[in-house]
Amino acid sequence: MRELFDVTLRDEDGALTRDELVHAASDVDVLVPTVVDAIDAPLIAAMGARLKLIANFGVGTNHIDLTSARARGILVSNTPGVLTDDTADTTMALILWTPRRFSDGERVIRDGAWPGWSPSAMLGHRVTGKTLGIIGMGRIGRAIAQRARGFGLKVHYHNRHHLPPEAEQDAVFHADLDAMLPHCDILSINCPLTPATRHLVNARRLGLLPAHAYVVNTARGSIIDEVALADALEAGVIAGAGLDVFEHEPAIEPRLRDLPNVVLLPHMGSATFEGRKAMGDRVITNIRAWADGHRPPDQVLEGWA
Ligand code: DGY
Repeated sequence: MRELFDVTLRDEDGALTRDELVHAASDVDVLVPTVVDAIDAPLIAAMGARLKLIANFGVGTNHIDLTSARARGILVSNTPGVLTDDTADTTMALILWTPRRFSDGERVIRDGAWPGWSPSAMLGHRVTGKTLGIIGMGRIGRAIAQRARGFGLKVHYHNRHHLPPEAEQDAVFHADLDAMLPHCDILSINCPLTPATRHLVNARRLGLLPAHAYVVNTARGSIIDEVALADALEAGVIAGAGLDVFEHEPAIEPRLRDLPNVVLLPHMGSATFEGRKAMGDRVITNIRAWADGHRPPDQVLEGWA
């Protein structure tokens, strides 16, 4: 970026504060936030008149108020496609890791508490032959379905649209999420976070899953009601959860940390060298297109009339 543009870089990790964001956007054409920088309506109103493009480093744009950006004529772009495989791999890892209790196994060894092999030690649940329900069959959902078939899982899905047969393969479509949940041995959440999907998986819906079911989330924490999830795990309403994302990152509902049937990852679904490089390249492609007078190829259109 430095070769192409006049860049001011904030090279510390972590989210920018509101003041830092307003300051960063006070006299620039383009702002490049990451997925942890909350850019809401008052913040957009406070940003400098020069700002024309928010080129997000990440695919999820739930942290940006798209309607306010549109009202001010600010374009928003993201980085779709380049983190699909990494996120699908992370999801598959949680689908395998959680029912098989691999975290428990690792803890036993690290704690120096392994007494050796025994017929009944470390028993978990087999994944092969089970039914995986996927909420959201976009790029990432479909990449998970493809991997899941290789592990002998049957795939059901809930999506806004019924996929065409070539994309659906032999997955079973449920227009009604509630109707899919009783079929799921494992539920994977892969839809975007929007006002309509916030707390989509709530106490009532957790109760529709079989008691032996596992929930995996690599999308956004707030799609699940995290307190309801901890309640359900404590009460044995479901068997376990594998989570890469949380409602109030980096804070986590404290009970989740203490539950042995939960695998916790620090929002690292797309954390590969290759993926992050490709995300940076997409950001640059979008800025260059805009600078050359074109629409950014990854312009996010939700919120635009
Ligand atoms: C995204 O891009 O939205 C991921 O959550 C972070 O890579």
